[in-house]
Amino acid sequence: MVLGIESTAHTFGVAVVSSEPPYILSDVRRRYTPRAGGILPREVAAFFSSVAGEAVGEALSAAGVSMRDVTAVAVALGPGMGPALRVGATVARALAAAYRKPLVPVNHALAHIEVARFDTGLRDPLVVYVSGGNTMIASFLDGRYRVFGETLDIALGNLLDTFAREAGLAPPYVVEGRHAVDICAEGGEYIDGLLPYRVKGQDVSYSGLLTAALRALRRLGRRALPGICYTLREIAFSSLVEVAERGLAHTGKKQLVLAGGVGANDLLREKLSLMASDRGVEYRPVSKKYAVDNGVMIAITGLLAFTHGIVVEPSRAYIRQRWRLDEVEVPWYPSTLGG
Ligand code: FE2
Repeated sequence: MVLGIESTAHTFGVAVVSSEPPYILSDVRRRYTPRAGGILPREVAAFFSSVAGEAVGEALSAAGVSMRDVTAVAVALGPGMGPALRVGATVARALAAAYRKPLVPVNHALAHIEVARFDTGLRDPLVVYVSGGNTMIASFLDGRYRVFGETLDIALGNLLDTFAREAGLAPPYVVEGRHAVDICAEGGEYIDGLLPYRVKGQDVSYSGLLTAALRALRRLGRRALPGICYTLREIAFSSLVEVAERGLAHTGKKQLVLAGGVGANDLLREKLSLMASDRGVEYRPVSKKYAVDNGVMIAITGLLAFTHGIVVEPSRAYIRQRWRLDEVEVPWYPSTLGG
């Protein structure tokens, strides 16, 4: 039984998972939502500190266990925002030290992929991982995930959020998987030649697209906003689907999984589905519930890692803001919880 703690970005998550069915025993989330503007790391950290204690208590009581029953504590040590990461790491180190439990370091990007593999049942997929801070196409090869394509500048979620903010759309930007840009795009249509479509080899690039969209908004005025939202989203998603298709061709994988917070987006889920059926590839997006950040993904990955002897001394459990997915060994692959 592993208690997992997530605190890399806007969500403080705590969950308890077991190696036996029903596997997920609790899933507690406390999400920080800024009133206006972007996320301020120090405000997030203050919010996390204020909810951490009760979130841990709630995760244990919802699972019907106490810290004594827990085998190990897992924590996301990166990548993410320093001040936010520090809260989760501090709580996890304290729990591990106080209750003499092993501490398991978890990479947040890997955890998104592992919860998606567990949730979809697809064991050996090419992974499209998209969120506010990450955009990558990854696939397992020789002991770890390799990145076959990624964004050369900003992440897909960052592109959508920044455009929404700069265009004056009201936060919160994502409500039940629908982004403010999706809502704005209703009633709009594709405007040919308005924005640049850019794929560089196996990588995407979104900052030029963002700049061009904001420039188009200034030039055409707010009445053009639905068309700009529609076109922006269309180009951003289509270029991602194109690099995902290249990833499938390159790796020869017969399965495709969509993971990460932006993976809850209906249009993106559908576009990947069409591409996958064209190629005869088995495709499943992660459940919307597990697309966004949560403690379950950290606990699952921590449990798998722990059973392969991956632990860290609490005094050496440093956060790593830029911890890359392809630096992490994954000795349990392709198995997951339950086999
Ligand atoms: Fe995430």
